[in-house]
Amino acid sequence: MDSVRMWIILLILFRQWTSCAGADTHWTYTGSVGQTQWSEYFPHCGGTKQSPINVETSQAQHDPSLTPVRPLGYRQTGNQPFTLTNNGHTVEMSLPGWMGLGGLPWQFTAVQLHLHWGSSGGRGGGSEHTIDGHSSAAELHVVHFNSELYPNVSTAMKQKDGLAVLGVLIETSEDTNPGFENIISYLENIKHAGQKVPIPAFDVQSLLPLHLGRYFRYNGSLTTPPCYQSVLWTVFTERVTVSLAQLRKLETALFSSPVEESDSHLLQDNYRSPQPLNRRVVVASFPPDTTTVYTVGEICAMVIGAICGCIGLAVIIHFVIKTVRSTSSWDVLPSVRPTSLPRSKETEKEPKQDVVFKTTSNPEKEEAPPQPEP
Ligand SMILES: *[C@@H]1O[C@H](CO)[C@@H](O)[C@H](O)[C@H]1NC(C)=O
Ligand SMILES: *[C@@H]1O[C@H](CO)[C@@H](O)[C@H](O)[C@H]1NC(C)=O
Repeated sequence: MDSVRMWIILLILFRQWTSCAGADTHWTYTGSVGQTQWSEYFPHCGGTKQSPINVETSQAQHDPSLTPVRPLGYRQTGNQPFTLTNNGHTVEMSLPGWMGLGGLPWQFTAVQLHLHWGSSGGRGGGSEHTIDGHSSAAELHVVHFNSELYPNVSTAMKQKDGLAVLGVLIETSEDTNPGFENIISYLENIKHAGQKVPIPAFDVQSLLPLHLGRYFRYNGSLTTPPCYQSVLWTVFTERVTVSLAQLRKLETALFSSPVEESDSHLLQDNYRSPQPLNRRVVVASFPPDTTTVYTVGEICAMVIGAICGCIGLAVIIHFVIKTVRSTSSWDVLPSVRPTSLPRSKETEKEPKQDVVFKTTSNPEKEEAPPQPEP
């Protein structure tokens, strides 16, 4: 009886522990439920197709069938405001259902967009995806679900072909980005986790790079728990820029803690480290040799450089040949000269060396005895 009771108690405790460890677990980027611990509480986070990744450009395979991404209805603002939310992990903006994505294997409908950033004005990184090991200052994610196959995002996010996310790498420049200002200027209104604010609708395409035809694509996951491996990723090669002041505001305006919590923590460094690629292939929409685009000036410099190089090489070769020729004639002379010197053994060898030099036209060096002249 006692052992049965003990088992029942253990079972109840186990159930409570597992329900705690589910969706309710409060995760963070560092600390006791930091990113290295996520997989203990959210098993998908320990999967083999996780995101983000470091994209090795030299390993990406060009797929000529990849057409430019087509944002659908991104420029239509409608007459309803967008909702900006501090969810404790990021700032998230809801997107209207008429927005979608074309140029993918299925029709995708937009759900929300959010950002990831660092804490040091971009110097210590902040983006999730890295390219050839290079971090950007921040990263924008525009999340869509497969509305051709699934009724809503909560169902789709658990299916392997459920989501499509656009990844836009963000760097800093001199200029204020007016598109991002539509979001950044309202962060003061949602300082604490759980707060929301309606903001005027704006052209969401203004947040994307100009050229939507150059990107990397791979199968990956949500970059936050529960890390479902349901995302077809598109990471654009063209970066967008915001001013340092805008980045600073993003890095310092929000708290990850709710308003009622006395000790507030800045919402910073909300980016996950690159995950193992494992057996996945990253495809590129563009061929590898066009990765570097040269300006007219650079091409001129390269042509002039090549010509100068050729002339230089010709001059060097000319001098080497000249030197070799004259050296061989100098070598012959001393070898001839010592014959006149009285030396016991060497003197006997010298004439042979002399023959070797002179017999470039006569292959049978030593075998050939001096032929009598006709
Ligand atoms: C999503 O769709 C599923 C299946 O139709 C349904 O059970 C669920 O309640 C829906 N969820 C939401 C949030 O609408
Ligand atoms: C993603 O996975 C699907 C199979 O689930 C495959 O058909 C597709 O080619 C993969 N896409 C990429 C970019 O690897």
